[in-house]
Amino acid sequence: MKYTAPRGTKDILPDDSSIWQVVENVCRAVFGLYNYQEIRTPIFEPTELFARSIGDSTDIVKKEMYTFADRKGRSLTLRPEATAAVVRAGLENNLISTDNLTKLYYIGPMFRYERPQAGRQRQFNQAGIEAFGSNDPLLDAEVIQMAVKLFETLGLKELEVDVNSVGCKKCRPVYLEALKKYFQENIKHMCEDCKARFETNPLRILDCKEEPCQKYIAKAPAMVDHLDPECKDHFEKVVGWLGGLGVKFKINDRLVRGLDYYTKTAFEVVSKRLGAQNAVCGGGRYDDLVEELGGKPTPAIGFAIGLERLIEVLKSENKQQGMGHRIDLFIATIGDEARKVGFDLLTKARISGVRADTDYLGKSLKAQMKAADRLKAHYVYIIGEEELKKKSAMLKNMETADQKEVPFDQLFKDTGCDCGDDCKCSCEDDGCCD
Ligand code: HAM
Repeated sequence: MKYTAPRGTKDILPDDSSIWQVVENVCRAVFGLYNYQEIRTPIFEPTELFARSIGDSTDIVKKEMYTFADRKGRSLTLRPEATAAVVRAGLENNLISTDNLTKLYYIGPMFRYERPQAGRQRQFNQAGIEAFGSNDPLLDAEVIQMAVKLFETLGLKELEVDVNSVGCKKCRPVYLEALKKYFQENIKHMCEDCKARFETNPLRILDCKEEPCQKYIAKAPAMVDHLDPECKDHFEKVVGWLGGLGVKFKINDRLVRGLDYYTKTAFEVVSKRLGAQNAVCGGGRYDDLVEELGGKPTPAIGFAIGLERLIEVLKSENKQQGMGHRIDLFIATIGDEARKVGFDLLTKARISGVRADTDYLGKSLKAQMKAADRLKAHYVYIIGEEELKKKSAMLKNMETADQKEVPFDQLFKDTGCDCGDDCKCSCEDDGCCD
């Protein structure tokens, strides 16, 4: 019996996990710059929480949730997204209030039972933020700017930011009527999904990617032309601030999101380097959700980045270079005595904060050099019989192939402690190495 990872899931292997660590660290650093704090919520929540917030007629709730009953018969669901969970946790722990801005971020796995394809998995990871308590259009612009800043920090510049407004519960019904009226005539020529959406969620028709539907979608009325004065004013200010902050963006009046809780600003960051699943980041404002989940009316906005897709874009732009795992030093030894000295230096290396390794398989010098190469060691220090006599050995720079002789007791002079075998300190203790 051979076991394989469940369909739609992927192992993140050591070659890639160092890239993941860099990306996650950049997310934490950028979110931190904007004063977001981390929240970690459970992987599963009561099913009702997601059904209520994401919307009964969405694909996610209708067919993509991993729902199961626990031993007491309670219906639980693996989180398909984190926004609803963060609102639940914020309300339960009194983090959300109407007179303070609460800024939270999360990084972790989400689960959707979708048809797996490039860029679409059943377990995938998101890094996201949620800000509660302000409807200031500047916050919308700042949130979008933060996403762009994050991508730029990783060296990505070829992304497109699409922005739209999906209105609010006052003006959207009027728009939905206009949409239905428009599609009424042509819906019979459109795909089966569109026909179903026409009945349950006409806004989602705009998101259809089927070729035969495109000509009808292109001419459909736009939400931005049906916004009420408050939503219109808000959208204009968001657009104004985005310009003011120097964010390059495109107004895309066909942009709709796959979750029902959005109001006003909706946005996505897309990459031409990805296939059909080209959104690296999606988000928007959801001013009614906190109240719907039992809180006081509290405006909110957030986004989530799909980390698998982000790493795919990084690789396609060759920006992941330098993010791989490396060690600083490989100590190669020939013979038992050299091994003892080598191991002593290895211990000192680690005390000094130098990432170091050696051979544990009794390999020949040639094979040890190959191993050092595979580990992408910056330096190799080679100790044999001659070196033992001299108490000094060659330090080889693996990139330039330059070599220089460095005495054993000088190897960590610049990097840390060299004050002798008995020293257990980390050299930060005053006077230790005097
Ligand atoms: P979403 O658009 O459903 O929004 O997902 C955000 C991002 O997660 C997508 O742009 C994509 O990069 C990634 N993603 C979604 N589904 C998959 C999948 N099956 N496989 C791989 N990547 C995927 C949300 O989840 C909202 N909670 C975002 C948000 C936060 N809105 C407000 N606050």
